[in-house]
This record gives sequence, C-alpha cells and structure tokens, in this order.
Amino acid sequence: MRPLIIRVDPLDIDQQDIKEAAAAIRSGGLVAFPTETVYGLGANALDPEAVAGIFRVKKRPLDDPLIVHVSEDMDIGRFVSEVPENARRLMDKFWPGPLTVVIRKTELIPDIVTAGLENVALRMPSNPIARALIKLAGTPLAAPSANMFSKPSPTSPSHVISDLGDSIDVIVDGGDTDIGLESTVVGFDGEKVLILRPGGITVELIKNAVDSVSVCHGGLKAQESPGKYPRHYSPDARVVPIEMGTGQEIRTKHVADTLRNKGTRFGIMCVSERASLYKGYDVKVLGSEKDPEGCASRLYGVFREFDAENYEVIIAEAIPEHGLGLAIMNRIYKAAGPHSEATPDPA
Ligand code: TXA
Ligand code: MG
Repeated sequence: MRPLIIRVDPLDIDQQDIKEAAAAIRSGGLVAFPTETVYGLGANALDPEAVAGIFRVKKRPLDDPLIVHVSEDMDIGRFVSEVPENARRLMDKFWPGPLTVVIRKTELIPDIVTAGLENVALRMPSNPIARALIKLAGTPLAAPSANMFSKPSPTSPSHVISDLGDSIDVIVDGGDTDIGLESTVVGFDGEKVLILRPGGITVELIKNAVDSVSVCHGGLKAQESPGKYPRHYSPDARVVPIEMGTGQEIRTKHVADTLRNKGTRFGIMCVSERASLYKGYDVKVLGSEKDPEGCASRLYGVFREFDAENYEVIIAEAIPEHGLGLAIMNRIYKAAGPHSEATPDPA
C-alpha cells in the first residue's frame, strides 16, 4: 500500500487538503502529520481499533502509552478529570505548544491509548497544520512520533516515508519540523510537577511558571516513566557519548583511535566550535554551541545521516545541559542505551 502524500504549506493552508486527511482519520485510518516538535502518526484516539493500528505499524509494544493531541476548540474536561492547579497553569502558559501533561483520564479515553494506566498524556500542538487537522477531524488524535519503534523521531517527511511509508494511509507533508525534539512530558504528584521527559519547553521555563518542579526522567517507577525502554530514539549506529569537562578532546580522540585500530567505521558528532579539533576524522556538526535550538533541530537528522552512510559508531560529544541542551543530552544518552561507556542520567 502506498500512502497518499498531501503537500501543505504551513503558511497558507488549503482546508480542502486537510479535509482529506481528516476524513482518513474519521474512517479509522493512520495519518502522519507535522507538529512543531516531530512528525506524529495519528489515529482517532476514541477508536480503539484505529489506535491498535498505530502500535501494529510502529511495532510498538502495547505497554507504551500514547499522547492524545487536542485542539483549542475541544472541551478537555471530556478526556481528563482531577486537573491539578499547576497543570492548569502550565497548560494556560504553554498551550498550544510542545508541552504534554499527564493527568487522570475519563472513561472516554480507551485503555489501549494509555496502556491500561489511569492517566492520559495530553498535548495541544501549535503547528498550524496539526491544529487544522485535529479541528477538522473533530476528534482527539492519539499520536506517537511517526517512526519505527525505538528509532529516532522523524523531523522531515522523508524520514516518515522511509520508516512507515508502506503501511500508513496518508502523510501530510508540511516540510521540516521546527523544534526537532519531542515535547516536554510532565506528570503531577499532587501539585508537584515532575518532568518525565525534557523536551521543547525547557525546564527553566517550567520552573519560572510553577514553584515545585523536580526533574525525574528515568527515575520514576518504570510504569510511569516515558521512554522506559532502555535504548530509545536510537540510530542503527552505536552511540558513544563523551562527557564534557577537562580533556574532552583527548577522551574523544582516545575512543576514535581505538575504533580506528579495530577497523570500525565511526564518525564524531560535535558542535561547530570544536570541529577543527578533529581534522582527519569524519565529523558531523550539530550546530553552534551558542545555538541549542539549531542543535536540537538537527540532532535526529544527523543520526539518520550517519545511518544512511553506514557508520557503525557515532562518538557524540556532550554539550551544556541548559535550555534545550538538557533534552538533547537526554536523547543522546537514551540513544546510547544503559551500557555505553559514559551514560549517567543527565538529571
Ligand atoms: O512531541 C511529541 O511529544 C511527539 C509529537 C508527535 O506530539 N510525540 C511523541 O510521542 O514523542 P511518543 O509516543 O513518541 O512519546 C510519548 C511519550 C512516551 O515516552 C510515553 O511513554 C509517554 O510519552 N506517555 C504517554 N502516555 C503516558 C502516560 N499515560 N503516562 C506516562 N507517560 C506517558
Ligand atoms: Mg517516539
């Protein structure tokens, strides 16, 4: 089956085009669509059979719950109950945008969406195509990132086509995504805000908006923790992170030379300011260290480039963990998996 590919200009949306995608959602189909973070693979969140299709085509385990995407015209009281005061505050401040809140669900949300958990993850995306699609579909969309399970999330339509092109109904092509990393996922312990996954809304911004915040990605009970599978967001190549600090260049070269002696095909991923340290090695630049937003938007594309060029190992130099840097390093450590040479939890 070949998907219908609908090209849409995010600055000049043709409602007729979106209507076709919305009709596919209403009839139980699977539609890949752009959000401001990464491409999502959407299905009608209120239709358990449609949602089952998402798990099937992604080869995603049924115990990994999905985010439900809503539009501003929807009454979210139909989907969630017991909304903590701080959840309201964060939604008011950051919606529409790359923030996902995990809140007690109502019966309307099928169990398959939340993998049987009592809470549902809810997000209102800001991408105009995503907003128009959800609105026209007239139903919330359950949508994980539109990649094969455990692969890097797709930041361009070509990534979606290469991972899932044969098994979904529609791809809405809105060009490259803006942020390039997934949304920030927050849960609540009473009024305490738990950052379950750092992402598009920085921890600094969340701390400015509410009093009680703790960063606990990876530290929660397995069942409640997003990205709980040890290797996640990962390219085929093995990722070896090199921590910041004294001697980073020497440590990077030590790993590089060891791999070179073994005949392993490897590349180095670093910021532009450091690329000249590694003349004679294959280097891919993430962006300037002064521009974490640019680095975030390139990360998954660079992972996929290394794979396309058959690299076996990516030596990934760590960058400062402020702003989006925290989310970038979280994804690099997750991609490296639990047994890499340097994988402390970035919390
Ligand atoms: O930016 C994003 O969040 C993108 C776009 C498409 O919206 N979506 C995305 O979805 O990254 P996904 O499925 O790849 O990641 C969602 C994360 C998973 O790690 C999942 O475990 C967690 O959110 N999650 C979903 N529902 C949850 C729940 N009820 N409780 C705790 N964690 C949940
Ligand atoms: Mg994903």
